[in-house]
Amino acid sequence: MSRKFPCVDPPPADPRTRRQYWRELPEHGPLVGIRGGWGLHITDHEAIMDAFADPEVWRPGIGDIDQLANDPVQRQQYRAELRHILTRPEIPELRAQAREIVEAVAPQGCCEVHALATEYASRALWSVLGWPPETRPLLIDAWTLPGLGRFAPQVQTAITACARRLRELTDIPSADARRIVATLVNAGVRTTASAITFGLLEIARNPQLRAHLRPGFLGLHLKTQVGGHLRDHPEDIGPFCHEALRLDPPIPAVIRNPSRQVHMDGVAIPAGTEVRLPIATLNTRDGADVAIEDGKICPRKHFTFGYNARRCVGAELGALEVRLMIGEFVTAIPEFELAARYEEPAPQRGDPLSREAGQVHLRWNT
Ligand code: HEM
Repeated sequence: MSRKFPCVDPPPADPRTRRQYWRELPEHGPLVGIRGGWGLHITDHEAIMDAFADPEVWRPGIGDIDQLANDPVQRQQYRAELRHILTRPEIPELRAQAREIVEAVAPQGCCEVHALATEYASRALWSVLGWPPETRPLLIDAWTLPGLGRFAPQVQTAITACARRLRELTDIPSADARRIVATLVNAGVRTTASAITFGLLEIARNPQLRAHLRPGFLGLHLKTQVGGHLRDHPEDIGPFCHEALRLDPPIPAVIRNPSRQVHMDGVAIPAGTEVRLPIATLNTRDGADVAIEDGKICPRKHFTFGYNARRCVGAELGALEVRLMIGEFVTAIPEFELAARYEEPAPQRGDPLSREAGQVHLRWNT
């Protein structure tokens, strides 16, 4: 590359200081390298949007195999077919599933949220897609536990069963259906589970928000205020979830590799270089905290589900699951607090879904 660009340390582990980190990233320059395997990031807002808008030059992902289809016409067709299924979920059924999971833990006085959220996100996905329920534990373990072979024969048999069902619902041919089943498991469960976890973590530990919502309260009551507010103002659950998705995007940056050499700020980026578009930087442009005006949560625009041709096909389903699960949680358990310090796991190298939530242990009085 022709010119040097600045390099900075990776994002801090604490979610709130991390938001500020992404917000301030453009101050280092329009192109910033992040050490520790995070790679080269475009930080200029307009340049990020331009890259999103031009998938011909800024090709998504790593390598040559598209997760849906390499042929552009075919991938449009697959996107349309998947969206058709994913945007028509049985909402009462998804709500009942969330309620059942929350009501099972409510009497226990404690839970680990990420496990609960993974259980919910996978149950919801399986029911929307009508996949055989017995395939769920096997496929979830294969995609969430490190070292478990995704090519193990029993995992492949489970994928075949789900692919058969996908072919009953769509015109996706069998040659592609198996890969798309794997994509849906990978793209649809960890993301949503992390978003739910980050949202409940925020409620458990956001004193600024609580102070804003209820000024003048005693520190003793700190932990109850957001849950209390959401319980008293159920109409704010939707806006809160929107803000949680904005502030803690489960995919903080998407990967692109230019199909030709691109010049940016005096730097020549060779074709095929892995470049990241930091969604977390776009999202925090107008603020790195939950936006509240006149005592109401005011959702701001976010790009948590991406933008343009590659925008997430499960965006509506993911957002719905976040709203249902967080809504059911704060309704059944209005007062809760962190039971242990939150530790963010290090991102898995080379994995575009690099920001998975860690374990969040909550406790409450029963
Ligand atoms: C909160 C939950 C979710 C978040 C934050 C999220 C985020 C994203 C983002 C940022 C992208 C774009 C990647 C890029 O531009 O390179 C994406 C793509 C995708 N997402 Fe999601 N997603 C979520 C839930 C889901 C769900 C529930 C499904 C479906 C089961 C899903 C399926 C997909 C698929 C198939 C793609 C690839 C689309 C394409 O290549 O055209 N996602 N997601």
